[in-house]
Amino acid sequence: MKVLIIGRGGREHAIAWKMAQSTLNPQIFVAPGNEGMRTIPNAFVELVPIDENNTEELLRFALDNKIDLTVVGPEAALMNGIANEFQKAGLPIFAPTKEAAQIEGSKQFAKDLMAKYDIPTAAFKTFEDYDQAKSYLDEVGAPIVIKYDGLAAGKGVVVAMTAEEADAALKDMLLDNHFGKGKVVMEEFLQGPEFSLLTMVNGEQVVPLVIAQDHKRAYDGDKGPNTGGMGAYSPVPVIPQEQIDWAVEHIMKPTAAALVKEGCSFCGILYGGLMLTKEGPKVIEFNARFGDPETEVVLPKLKSDFVQMMLDVLDHKPVTPEFFDKAFLGVVLAAKGYPGKYGKGFEIKNLDTVKQLVFHMGTKREDGKWLSNGGRVLFVVGQGDTLRQAQSDAYEGVKAIDCPELFYREDIGWQAV
Ligand code: AMP
Ligand code: GLY
Repeated sequence: MKVLIIGRGGREHAIAWKMAQSTLNPQIFVAPGNEGMRTIPNAFVELVPIDENNTEELLRFALDNKIDLTVVGPEAALMNGIANEFQKAGLPIFAPTKEAAQIEGSKQFAKDLMAKYDIPTAAFKTFEDYDQAKSYLDEVGAPIVIKYDGLAAGKGVVVAMTAEEADAALKDMLLDNHFGKGKVVMEEFLQGPEFSLLTMVNGEQVVPLVIAQDHKRAYDGDKGPNTGGMGAYSPVPVIPQEQIDWAVEHIMKPTAAALVKEGCSFCGILYGGLMLTKEGPKVIEFNARFGDPETEVVLPKLKSDFVQMMLDVLDHKPVTPEFFDKAFLGVVLAAKGYPGKYGKGFEIKNLDTVKQLVFHMGTKREDGKWLSNGGRVLFVVGQGDTLRQAQSDAYEGVKAIDCPELFYREDIGWQAV
């Protein structure tokens, strides 16, 4: 069979790596993919030079090559309506339509849906006008969370501990239009450990995968700006299984059902970014796609055949995934300066000697050398019977990589080991 993965980062590398283990022996095409994906052992992986946003060309490629299953990584491709086009053409695709993907693309849509269906989340208000937002801020004060209503690659959120910080964020988003002209959601500040719950969804069917925890801040001790994620691990011992089960029953299943009722039934990965507060799990955000880097630790834990699972979910067949009883922990190596300005093209030495699992987030190969080609560059995954073992395994791999222009957090998993 033939599968097509859309995207070019570590998440798509992990999806390709896992799909390559399927007993269905898929031929794997990745558009556009990255050179690191060619290092997947014993696999047929072909890179297809089509941009992930070129829906028309991707559709043509899938039709011409009779692709049996398409999986989509990046949110932008979803918002472009790639699933709508593939569905219209009768091509099986494990991804939500652009209408369903609004659960990620529009904070307001997600918040309104949660309010209407009593799905636990932080109290919130939406503003378009700076003066109104500012007077609301004066009324409620800090701490408060300010979120740009739209896609900002995980960077449009400011957790403001002071009113000054909050005001600066409002000015940035509503007066200077830093992310484009839009709205902001101002939200109650919640506290508690966070976790990412990825579920495979088709209509009302919800198949939970194991949870992971992501480290969103750039620097050690959870300091510095928010990023797309600097490391992740699974399992997450601070979150009891009964709270995960509760979240599946009271958050993920009702959300999938709500989307069906609203006429935009969801297919694909519905990702709950959840916080375990004193009152129980609450939604911080939903994503309409695989998390990055969560996917890179969740899929290694998965024992079941991932290709078969996706096909079964698409067919509304019951799916009971099995997982390895092992711990996985991964560390991002990012270009210095990320998530702000950073350079590209730095040579990465010794990569081929690393024994750990390495997913390429932003690399390219030139004249036999690996070069950095993005903000987040590599993701090194350690494994072991315990998280501590997984952590030392991961850092052993990280330290073997030689590229002084990259940095990484030294404390991934610090609360858990
Ligand atoms: P988001 O992009 O919505 O996931 O937000 C990024 C990060 O900001 C989250 O992972 C949280 O750490 C933090 N955050 C978002 N919303 C809240 C909230 N209501 N209370 C506290 N922290 C939040
Ligand atoms: N790691 C967070 C995300 O994928 O949005």
